[in-house]
Amino acid sequence: MNKNKNVFTSKVGAILATAGSAVGLGNVWRFPTEAGTNGGGAFILIYVLFMLLLGVPIMVTEFAIGRHGGKDVSHAFVKMSGGKKGWRWMGLIPMVSGFLVLSYYAVVAGWTLYYAYEALIDGFSGKSPEDFTNDFGAFSSDPIQPVLWMGIIIVLTCGIVALGVQKGIERGAKIMMPMLFVFILVLVGCSLTLPNASKGLTFLFQPDFSKVNSSVILSAMGQAFFSLSVGLGCLCTYACYFRKDVDLMKDGLHVASIDTLAALFSGLIIFPAVYSIPGLQPDAGPSLVFVTLPNVFQHEFGDMTWLAYLFSLIFYLLLVMAALTSSISMLEMSTAYFNKNLHLSRPLATVIVSVVCLVLGTFCSLSFGDWKDVQIFGMGFFDLFDFLVAKLIMPIGGMLMCIFLGWVVNEKVLRDELTNHGTIKSPLYPAFRFIIRYFAPICIFLIFVNELYLYFINLFGAY
Ligand code: PFF
Repeated sequence: MNKNKNVFTSKVGAILATAGSAVGLGNVWRFPTEAGTNGGGAFILIYVLFMLLLGVPIMVTEFAIGRHGGKDVSHAFVKMSGGKKGWRWMGLIPMVSGFLVLSYYAVVAGWTLYYAYEALIDGFSGKSPEDFTNDFGAFSSDPIQPVLWMGIIIVLTCGIVALGVQKGIERGAKIMMPMLFVFILVLVGCSLTLPNASKGLTFLFQPDFSKVNSSVILSAMGQAFFSLSVGLGCLCTYACYFRKDVDLMKDGLHVASIDTLAALFSGLIIFPAVYSIPGLQPDAGPSLVFVTLPNVFQHEFGDMTWLAYLFSLIFYLLLVMAALTSSISMLEMSTAYFNKNLHLSRPLATVIVSVVCLVLGTFCSLSFGDWKDVQIFGMGFFDLFDFLVAKLIMPIGGMLMCIFLGWVVNEKVLRDELTNHGTIKSPLYPAFRFIIRYFAPICIFLIFVNELYLYFINLFGAY
C-alpha cells in the first residue's frame, strides 16, 4: 500500500473510484427516464456529443486542478493559479454541493434500497398494475418509511467514507464496480431474450430528429454533466488522491466510456423489458423503474416465477450499488473540506456532514408527501435541490473551472500536468486547450442563459 493514506494505491483504483462516482442512478434511473421522455435515439446522439465535447474536457480539467494541488480543492486552486489566495474560495463549491446533491440523491437511493428489500422478500408477486402505481405513490409520500431507508443509505455511505481514501473509497469501488458490471451484463442478456425486445432496441437506437428541440438539447447537456459528475468539484476532490503517474486524458476517456456503456446497457435492460408487455410506454418518466418495471418483471416471465424473482432482485441490487458508489463521492466532497480546511478528524467530519444531509434529505423526502405545498421559487425541496445542483452549480462550476484552467493558469503548468512533465504523449492536448478556452465556456454560457430564460418565462407565466 502507498504510504500516504490520502492517495489511491493504483491507477486501476483511481479509475474505479472515479467511475464509481460517475456510474450511478444517473445512468440506471435518470438516463432511461430522460431518453424515454425525450424521444430515444436522437436524444442519445446529442448526449454522447455533449459527453465528448464538454463532459470529458471538463472532467480532465477537474483532474488536472485536483492532482496538481494534491491536498484539497481550495489548496489546489491556489497552487495552480501560482499562489493567488483568492481562488481558495472555489473550494466552497464542492463543500456546498456535497450537502445539496447527497441530500436529494439519498432519497432516491433509499427508494431503491426499499425496492431491493421488497424484491428479496418476494413482495412484488401477485400484484396488479394498479397495485404497483398505488404502492409507489403511498411509499414515496409516507412521512416515515422513505426517510428510514434514506437513513440506512446515509449510514452505509458514512461508514465507508469514514474508513478513508484507501480502505473505504478505493476498496469499496474495487468490490462494487466489478459486481455492478456483472449484474448489468446478466440483466442485458435476460432482457434481450424477451418478446418484442427488438422494438425496445429500435426505440433506443433509431434517432427521430423531429423530437429534437431546445429543451431536448438542454436535457442532454444536463444529463451528460450529471452522469459524469462534472462541475461540482467532485472529480477535483478525487483527483487530489491521484498518483503522479496517472495519465489524466486517458483516464478521463476511460471513465467516460465506462459511464456511457453503463447508461446504454441500462437502456438495453429497460426498453426491451418495457416493450415486452403491449400497452406499456417508454416515456413513463421518473416512475419508470419503480412502477413500470416491477410490473414488467411480474408479468413477462409467465410461469417462471423464480426468474421474475431473480431478475427483480438483481436489478434493484444493481441500483443500490450504483447509488452507493456515487453517494460515497458526494459525501467525500464536503468531508474532505472539513477534514483539510477545518482540521476535523475524518470520522468526525464524516459524521457531521452525514447528520446535516440526513436533516436536509428528510425535507426532500417530505416534499413528496406532507410538505408537497411547501414551495420555494415554485419548487418543493427535492426539485429545488436538483435545480440548484444540475441546472445552476454544474454549468456555472464547469464554466468557471474551464476559464480558470484556460485563462488563469500558466500554460506550461497545464501542459506539464497533462503530459506528466513531458513523460507521456498527449496528442489531444491542442484540442483540449481549444475546448476549455473557447468552446466550453461559450457553449455552456449560451445554453445556461437560454435555460434560465425559459425557466423564468415558465415561472412568471404560471402566475
Ligand atoms: N454521476 C452520478 C450518477 O450518474 O448517478 C451522480 C453524481 C455523483 C452527481 C457525484 C454529482 C456528483 F458530484
